[in-house]
Amino acid sequence: MDLKLVQSALIGEVGGEDYPQAGRTRMILPAPIGLLGTGLGDPETYLMAQMSEGQVFMMGDNPALPRMAAKPTLLDFFKHRFSDFTVRHLLTSAKRALDDGQDEKIVIACLLHDISNGCFLRADHGYWGAQMIAPYVSEEIAWAVKYHQCLRYFADESVGYAYPESYHRFFGPDYVPPEYVRRDAAEARAHRWYMTSRQVTLYDIYFFESEDGIDPTIFIDIIGRHFKEPADGLGFDGSPVAHMWRTMIWPNNFL
Ligand SMILES: [Fe+2]
Ligand SMILES: [Fe+2]
Repeated sequence: MDLKLVQSALIGEVGGEDYPQAGRTRMILPAPIGLLGTGLGDPETYLMAQMSEGQVFMMGDNPALPRMAAKPTLLDFFKHRFSDFTVRHLLTSAKRALDDGQDEKIVIACLLHDISNGCFLRADHGYWGAQMIAPYVSEEIAWAVKYHQCLRYFADESVGYAYPESYHRFFGPDYVPPEYVRRDAAEARAHRWYMTSRQVTLYDIYFFESEDGIDPTIFIDIIGRHFKEPADGLGFDGSPVAHMWRTMIWPNNFL
């Protein structure tokens, strides 16, 4: 890819008067972790050289993204930040658990299990996702989200869970998960909450054919009972993970 093209795509829109840094071009430097190893090049030096009175690095609301509520709720992130693929996957997973009459804790764990993939980080997404939700859900739900990542790699014939066909396609048929994944899966297997996380893996199916049309608001009551929305909104409650939610609200902040 032409580095110049990549670099010019990094210049953010000029926002209206009601956006921060109004009247200036706002440059976006993508998070280093999303560029590392991709061969797209590191635009930091280039963008630093473009700084001027009229051209600054973006801080605050990006006009290219829907503006979030002052006190954002979980569903605001589903609606305004998470990728279409992840939203469809989470809603489908939770809906199937609901339709099967699963306990609400399973349904909410399914709804949240890949939350980190929505617009945050993919690598070690179970661990990141568990941390993001820990202050707002029961310990068991966060635990199930954390461990679904490693349990996905290990079949459990007693409940009809086989190694995912999709993983053969994702990673190649000879992929072997690393030591920490094998260790954590073994630990999870022996844990009293094993079946909670295992249930999540049973509903963790990719439906590549579109499952559009699941209305996220059907989960409002279950969210209300199992996800303690902070009064000040996600990102602004001073919790140990508030910064993770703020990063999703303002993903293009320079610092
Ligand atoms: Fe996952
Ligand atoms: Fe998943």
